[in-house]
Amino acid sequence: MRVHGIPYRTIWMEGGVVRLIDQNRLPFEFALVDCPTHRETAAAIREMVVRGAPAIGAAGAFAVAQAFAEAPARDPWPYAREARDHVAATRPTARDLFAGIEHAWRAAESAVDPAAASLAAAQAFADESVESCRRIGEHGAALIGEGARVLTHCNAGWLATVDYGTALAPVYVAAARGRRPHVWVDETRPRAQGARLTAWELSGEGISHTVIADNAAAWLMSRGEVDLVITGADRVAANGDAVNKIGTLTKALCAREFGIPFYVAVPPSTFDPATPDGASVMIEERAEDEVHFQSGPDEHGTIRRIRVTSPGSSARNPAFDATPARLIAGYITDRGILQRHEIPSATTAAEPAAAGLVPGE
Ligand code: MRU
Repeated sequence: MRVHGIPYRTIWMEGGVVRLIDQNRLPFEFALVDCPTHRETAAAIREMVVRGAPAIGAAGAFAVAQAFAEAPARDPWPYAREARDHVAATRPTARDLFAGIEHAWRAAESAVDPAAASLAAAQAFADESVESCRRIGEHGAALIGEGARVLTHCNAGWLATVDYGTALAPVYVAAARGRRPHVWVDETRPRAQGARLTAWELSGEGISHTVIADNAAAWLMSRGEVDLVITGADRVAANGDAVNKIGTLTKALCAREFGIPFYVAVPPSTFDPATPDGASVMIEERAEDEVHFQSGPDEHGTIRRIRVTSPGSSARNPAFDATPARLIAGYITDRGILQRHEIPSATTAAEPAAAGLVPGE
């Protein structure tokens, strides 16, 4: 996608350096971050400089390639194995991170030159992710009629992927076809990925949108002001349960109550046939300070951090929740809009859970 007229991917690799759009500074500042080694790339994932399931999948793949490039040529395996586990321990929930790591690792395992093979595989993983998201946009656009009002949660736009986005990709295609969609943007407390990132993306693309407080969605739905809901996902289990940003479940329950279709847009790297259901997915719990504090520019443009909860109170900060498959109208994929029985399942899994990676360990 373009920023100030210049085409960008969210993440790419150049001369061994992983380059990222810094998502912690958006929308107040557009800046790039360079990660010269796998350690910096891992830190960028952990600190959410890069975030969104497909984007951290590409980051994981690139980090493995960096590890092989850093490792001693004679025996790269002990160093690379430790590096791989370090990268895998950054965030536990999104399947894409492990898919990216496994993809680059497997290519190295069967190669004479592991560094070259893992680099080529990581690049291919990122390119395939872009193509999947492009196709999600093409298929999903069929759901968005003239003037459709689409509610989305968190940021599942191009910033959350290598390019194009998942939930927002159909919106971009529908807009390009002249259908003038309107997007209700959930603020998405506590990190405000909707208010900060989705709103910034949609502004850049000239798409009509309105930021709403997370609590406002049910009221809008009850008044008939939402035509459909589209979110992304961090992991879709074998039974079709979709794990996504905390608050997604509430939107799916409300959508069911008011008869509004709720879709999940998902690239292949997000499907996890080895995990039976949403309850089996490890949910990341983040620091309570993310709930206590908010940051942004004051009236002079200086970024300030302010407390928004009562001093002395504790907070809990689960980052994701699981939406049961029965609430999901369809999965917008690179192969079309699928029903639950059509998604990859444990019995059709092409790849077993590989490389001994356990989320969060
Ligand atoms: O914690 P984040 O910001 O990485 O969470 C991102 C989400 O929950 C997205 O909705 C999900 O990764 C899908 S992105 C295409």
